[in-house]
Amino acid sequence: MLNFHTAGESHGKALMSIVEGLPADIEVDVNIINDYLERRQQGYGRGNRMKIEKDKVEIISGIRNGKTIGTPVGMMIKNKDWKNWKEIMDIYNIDIDDEVTKPRPGHADLAGVFKYGQKDIRNILERASARETAARVAVGGLLYNFLKYFDINLISHVIQIGSISIDKTIDNIEDIQKIIKSSKLNCIDQNKEKEMVDLINKVKKEGNSLGGIVEIRTNRMIPGLGSHSTWNKRLDQSISAAMMSIPSVKGVEIGNAFSNAVKKGSKVHDEIYYNDDKGYYRKTNNAGGIEGGITNGEPLVIRLAVKPIPTLSKPLKTVDIKTKKQEEAFKERADVTVVPSVGVIGEAMLIYILSKKILIKFGGDNIKETVRNYKNYINNL
Ligand SMILES: Cc1cc2nc3c(=O)[nH]c(=O)nc-3n(C[C@H](O)[C@H](O)[C@H](O)COP(=O)(O)O)c2cc1C
Repeated sequence: MLNFHTAGESHGKALMSIVEGLPADIEVDVNIINDYLERRQQGYGRGNRMKIEKDKVEIISGIRNGKTIGTPVGMMIKNKDWKNWKEIMDIYNIDIDDEVTKPRPGHADLAGVFKYGQKDIRNILERASARETAARVAVGGLLYNFLKYFDINLISHVIQIGSISIDKTIDNIEDIQKIIKSSKLNCIDQNKEKEMVDLINKVKKEGNSLGGIVEIRTNRMIPGLGSHSTWNKRLDQSISAAMMSIPSVKGVEIGNAFSNAVKKGSKVHDEIYYNDDKGYYRKTNNAGGIEGGITNGEPLVIRLAVKPIPTLSKPLKTVDIKTKKQEEAFKERADVTVVPSVGVIGEAMLIYILSKKILIKFGGDNIKETVRNYKNYINNL
């Protein structure tokens, strides 16, 4: 069964990922992984940390001569900022007096010290930090090499920052990819992007932060991934859980879920057609490509609601956990908005879920076996 783990603190030596369960002989282009890492770091509104860290992956195991060998793939991303944090983050002897004691509302700080019985919030925030998502994005980049065997492609783009949302829709992901190449915010609507950038600048001056909504779309989909048979095999369940695991994602929409909820059934459900060229097809995709927890062959459409990040340069009120006095919350270098990055992390999580479901359906210890099983299935549909 495909699975992955990550380890590593935000200001520790490195982040690590271990991916197990991939078939042998998948050709792996490391540039794809590094491109994914670079895309995660971009986006107007990110803070100075992103200028320090230019993430590059180092493959430690599981790949030989450019191909997987069926063993766990180990990957490492070094934290360039580590040299400035050695004393604070040393494994044995830390050399500081300034413990973090002023929890930020909206972060894991206070809930984490309750749960783990800690006095220094740094023991919580180092791992709650979304720096961890770099390790997930490396996994997504690695597994993108696997998805290529099934002609599956995907892209995320920002549809809302704060109260400003785009006025356009584009279904074709190659068109989206072309437009967002020259966008600071991965946004397909240039006029609205200008307004978003102005808003980010204004909010930055105020010492505040912004959330928004990002959409992820695939080019096509293999029908039959996921299952209606059991609650935890439903694909919408797996996708939502994976997306909700991304720090700051507080809502997931599959297809037009929220606008569907206020319409009549006849205006919502995607009618079924057939012709010899296309096979079964739909003229609409309000379901976002999933019916009964199973892909129906239409592209997947997923939207994520992202909350404004908690660290504010004009901090909110809090209570010092040492003195119990009312104070201003702790602040560390912070982003203003992370919505474009959340889209890239969402792509990585979707790549992982789809790869897992493909391997559950088609199996195979060698990629040739997996592809052969997939082609047999498609030919027999
Ligand atoms: C790419 C990315 C970067 C983030 N950067 C920051 C940041 O600079 N400061 C901050 O307070 N939160 C940041 N966050 C959000 C926190 O990680 C998140 O709010 C926190 O871990 C609490 O988890 P929750 O929002 O899911 O409840 C970031 C999130 C992502 C996805």
